[in-house]
Formats: sequence, C-alpha cells, structure tokens
Amino acid sequence: MADKKAQLIIEGAAPIDLPVYSGTMGPDVVDVRALGSSGYFTFDPGFMATSSCESKITYIDGDKGILLHRGYPIEQLAEKSDFLETCYLLLKGELPDAEQKSKFVETVQKHTMVHEQLKNFLNGFRRDAHPMAVMCGIVGALSAFYHDSLDINDAKHREVSAIRLIAKMPTIAAMVYKYSKGEPVIYPRNDLSYSENFLHMMFNTPCEEKKISPVLARAMDRIFVLHADHEQNASTSTVRLAGSSGANPFACIAAGIAALWGPAHGGANEAVLRMLDEIGDVSNIEKFIAKAKDKDDPFKLMGFGHRVYKNFDPRAKVMKQTCDEVLGELGINDPQLELAMKLEEIARNDPYFVERNLYPNVDFYSGIILKAIGIPTEMFTVIFAAGRTPGWIAHWNEMISGPYKIGRPRQLYTGYPQRDYPSK
Ligand code: SDX
Repeated sequence: MADKKAQLIIEGAAPIDLPVYSGTMGPDVVDVRALGSSGYFTFDPGFMATSSCESKITYIDGDKGILLHRGYPIEQLAEKSDFLETCYLLLKGELPDAEQKSKFVETVQKHTMVHEQLKNFLNGFRRDAHPMAVMCGIVGALSAFYHDSLDINDAKHREVSAIRLIAKMPTIAAMVYKYSKGEPVIYPRNDLSYSENFLHMMFNTPCEEKKISPVLARAMDRIFVLHADHEQNASTSTVRLAGSSGANPFACIAAGIAALWGPAHGGANEAVLRMLDEIGDVSNIEKFIAKAKDKDDPFKLMGFGHRVYKNFDPRAKVMKQTCDEVLGELGINDPQLELAMKLEEIARNDPYFVERNLYPNVDFYSGIILKAIGIPTEMFTVIFAAGRTPGWIAHWNEMISGPYKIGRPRQLYTGYPQRDYPSK
C-alpha cells in the first residue's frame, strides 16, 4: 500500500500519479513501474538513484557511515560475532542460539570438501593465471556438479546450496593458491574453525602441519565478517540479475565473482597494495595526489571514495583498528601502513577529496592485514569473494524465495532510425 503519492508532470502529457513507499529506514522510493505503460522510461546510468529491489538484509546510511546486517551494526558484529554466525544471521535474519550455531557450524564443516574431479579444472590454467580468473572458472564449473540436483523453488535445495557455497569457497580459494605455487592441495579438517581451516589449507603442506596462530585466525575471521555483505553493490546486483533468469545459484555466484574482480569494486584491495608499492615513499605522495586530481590522468586513489559512503566507511575504521592490533601482536612494523596512514591524512586535508566526500573505503587497509597474514596480493580479491559469498547467496535466496520478475532494463536509443539495406 503506497504511503504517499508523487505526480510526474511532463509537458504536453497528462500528469502521471506514482506511488511513494517508505522503508523501515532510509529514503522513500518512487514506484515508477507505471511509467512504461505511459510511454516513458526512467534514465539512470550507473543506478545513481535507483532501488532495484526491496530487501531486509543490509542497511547502509552513507551520510552517517552506518552499516547494519539484519539491524546489527557492523562494528558490533566485528567485535562480538564471528563469520559463521554472521553467515547464519544474513541467511536466516536472526542470530542463532547456541544449539542452532553448533548445528550450523557442523553442517558447514560437512560440506567443506569439493568433488575430487574439480581439481582437474585447475590443470587447464597456467600456474601464473590470475587467481580471480581461476575462481570464475572453478565456481562456474561447480554449477555443473549440482545443476541437475537443484530445484531453486525448493527451500531445502536453496538452503543446501547456500551451505555448500559458504563451505566450499575457502577450499576452492586455497586450491587456487596451492595450484599457483605448484604445491599439493591440502584437504579441509573438521576439527578446525572456519578461518583456522582456511589458513590451514592455504599454508600447511603434507610435509608439515603447523598449528594456526589464533591471532591470524581471528584476523582472518574479522576480515571475512567485514566483507560479508553490502546491500545492492555491483557484484550483488549481478548475482540478483543472473538469478532473476532462474540460473542455478552456483552460476550466479560465478557471475558475482566476475563482477567483483574489477578495480572499481573488489579488485581495489589488490590495487591499493600495488599503488602503495608504486608510491614507495612518503616523499612521493604529493605527486600521486596530484595525479588523482588530474582529470586527464586515469589514476585514482585506490581504496578511496564510495558510491554510497560520503563519510567514513565503518568497515575501514574497524579494518584500521584490526591493522593496529594484528601488526602489534605480530610485532610487525610495516612501512606500507605508515605510508597508507600518511596518504589518508594528506588526502583528507586536500579540498579536492574533502569537497567530494572521498574517504578510505573497506579496501584501503584490508591489504595490509592480508599481507601480515601471509596472503599474496593477487589473492586479495579472492578473499573478498569468499567473504562476500554469504551476502551474495542471502540476496539470491531472498529474491528467489518470493515473487520476482526477470531483470530486463530498457534504454535511451540514440542510434540510426530505420533504414533500408542498400540495393546492389
Ligand atoms: C567496493 O558499492 C559497494 O558497496 C562496493 C563495496 C562493497 O562492499 O561491495 O563497498 C566494495 O567496491 C569499494 C570501492 C572500491 N573501489 C575503489 O577504491 C576504487 C577507487 N574509487 C573510485 O573508483 C570511486 O570512488 C568508486 C568507483 C568507488 C565510486 O565511484 P562513483 O560513485 O561513480 O563516483 P565518481 O567516480 O562519480 O566520483 C565522484 C567524483 C569524481 O570527480 P568529479 O567528476 O566530480 O570531478 O570523485 C572523484 C571522481 O573523479 N573520485 C576520485 C576517486 N573516487 C572518486 N578521484 C580520485 N580518486 C578516487 N579514488
């Protein structure tokens, strides 16, 4: 039921009444679906002011720097929750009680292995292939193993697909890393926590199984929590659009991985470290700030700016705190952290960045922690994909479990009018 009404007045046409809806929080929305039958389309390249769906999963207030998952602030989840509990929250809408949590953890553990034949797909790639290219291929191939046993209209099938994807992403990510190093795949262990297990599969070998540092496991889990979901970002919107055609969830997540890869999105965490390498020293910061401000230079300050946040990205604040904790506990004095902090300080005092409300985003400090954990730069976006999997699959499930239509935007056509093929 519409809360309010809007009226669109177009010269020479009758006014068009449009319903206006209010959500629990955030801006009201104008329902423009009736415009199509009135002979008009809206025009919003890049979806600067477009709500693609109704959702109960995540709320962002970009002006206040607020991020809530099912109502819980990200700062509290990062401090008090853990990744699998956050996965449960995103999927089911409530925090689990002790029994529900233990059952969920046990169920995920039982799905961490992948089909043995999946390893064959690795051999089709060069060892130096970018890990995100391999992830797109392997997760897309995962859909081949389940496509015929999956009815997306069956809630139980959707639930087991969600569990399989959350459980298998770290296994696949570690397989991709091991393949790039020419080391044998390390199988998951059910006696380890989710993040311990991931680090075990990444860094142990058949010759030596070291105990995983609790400091690194906690930092890894915190990073997964901070990446778990973020409303209708580009990759989540890709997952929803792919899902709207009825594609199986594994194929939809593969589409999300492809969208995440770009440096404007999840690929930024890798680009930040490469940028810091290129800057090299505090004395070069001004030169790169000038490049970032130069409209004729494609260089952007990676890890800075956000479509929604016009204040601090709350995840960046937690990420910076985690940086300090992890490097302090490990006794690491990383010059790149000093460089990043100086870069932030200079940028945040420059009118160009202040006037455009450009702040550090989730990707600005994450790479410093990932490097301290031992993750190579080219694997950073793979970590982002593993962390974002619960968000992607929660949005897919939210859409498929209710009424939905195939996503099919229109356009403003400015090409040739109809013309005849020239007679020979
Ligand atoms: C993620 O959507 C999400 O929620 C994404 C994400 C998630 O969790 O899913 O939060 C994860 O993708 C974070 C963003 C990671 N990307 C980067 O760090 C790459 C660098 N940032 C930019 O490319 C940019 O800020 C975007 C892509 C993030 C946002 O782009 P917008 O919203 O389209 O903004 P814009 O490009 O129109 O910028 C507005 C102005 C422009 O200048 P003017 O034309 O007004 O003069 O700000 C400038 C831009 O040139 N600008 C920058 C800048 N970011 C914006 N200038 C220099 N360096 C930058 N980083």
